[in-house]
Amino acid sequence: MASSSESNVILVTGGAGYIGSHTCVELLVAGYEVAVFDNFSNSSPEVLARVELLTGRRVHLYRGDIRDSGALDHALADSGAGAVVHFAGLKAVGESVVQPIRYYDNNVVGTLRLLEAMSRAGVKSLVFSSSATVYGEPQSLPLTEEHPLAATNPYGRTKLVIEDMLRDIHHADPSWRIAILRYFNPVGAHASGQIGEDPMGVPNNLLPYVAQVAVGRREYLNIWGGDYPTPDGTGLRDYIHVVDLAQGHLKALERLQTAAQCFSVNLGTGTGYSVLEIVRAFEQASGRAVPYRIASRRSGDVAACYSDPRQAAELLGWRAERDLARMCQDAWNWQSQNPQGFTRAEPR
Ligand code: NAD
Ligand code: WQD
Repeated sequence: MASSSESNVILVTGGAGYIGSHTCVELLVAGYEVAVFDNFSNSSPEVLARVELLTGRRVHLYRGDIRDSGALDHALADSGAGAVVHFAGLKAVGESVVQPIRYYDNNVVGTLRLLEAMSRAGVKSLVFSSSATVYGEPQSLPLTEEHPLAATNPYGRTKLVIEDMLRDIHHADPSWRIAILRYFNPVGAHASGQIGEDPMGVPNNLLPYVAQVAVGRREYLNIWGGDYPTPDGTGLRDYIHVVDLAQGHLKALERLQTAAQCFSVNLGTGTGYSVLEIVRAFEQASGRAVPYRIASRRSGDVAACYSDPRQAAELLGWRAERDLARMCQDAWNWQSQNPQGFTRAEPR
């Protein structure tokens, strides 16, 4: 592969993961060359075989850990990447409370090692996976990018620290091109049902849990709180189809090509749906019952969280297109075709 700032090779860290794999598909379909850098700590190499089958294109794989400088130097030089889309990270909020050192090491130290390697290689274009979690407890809704930043758990703090690092790096060297994308709640799957979300153990997130109840892997859903100040008492979130989210990364890369800059944008739909609305939409899409029980609130949860998506429309020319019915249909298509998820390379 050619090495230059004109390169159309994108190094995708965490490219075998849920959002990364969908983004690889969109990148390949759009004509980019894709090199994945992943240690498969939360994914399976089988994902990449499926991405290749879906697109009829080859994915170059660098198996490695983002904390390994030598492995990163090799991947950047060998792939000839002109830009990095950085998904690799640990993402379980509850786990981060119990294992903060592991989270700071993997997410913060790993990103620092990546930025150093990029700097050495002269690759200064980066799209980073941030999260709506950097807004902390919403002070006002919808959440605009100007909302004060705060974090309420170690996972969120890793995202906030990385965002600050990126802003500092751009401040010191304005030739960097950095897009910070703040995802709301990614759900759904590729329309083929060949790739999708495959959480380890008991899912923490709502959609995979609901999907596993619908397919019969779990008996019923616990709804964490029925007494929030929302129309039906259950929590409101801004669910966004993972393919819309993936396409937002391509728009961010295009925008970075226009000039050196550092920006942060929300990737959400702007609409909040309640847990009960999700349950009903999923029942409709799957034709299966999703039994539930109202349980007590989950610690750390907020009543409502949804985006103001206007800045992404203005800056990137991007808006989410797929509605809730489509999110549930595609999640069900994936879940029903792959009731046990991907085959794991190693037992987890
Ligand atoms: P995921 O766990 O499915 O994917 C992450 C990938 O990174 C996995 O393939 C994993 O093996 C890899 N990885 C982790 N640590 C690594 C390391 N040290 N070296 C190399 N590879 C490593 O998660 P996802 O849902 O696809 O999330 C991708 C990114 O988006 C993460 O940074 C996450 O924090 C962020 N994000 C996710 C959500 C969400 O709800 N899924 C929301 C907001 C932000
Ligand atoms: C959604 C709603 C729950 C599970 C988390 C992270 C956030 C971001 C996205 C990475 C809430 C309710 C859930 C269940 C339920 N990740 N729920 N029963 O909490 O909005 O965001 O994932 O950056 O940082 O915190 O998503 O899917 O866990 O919950 O009732 O079994 O579903 O209470 O109202 P959340 P979620």
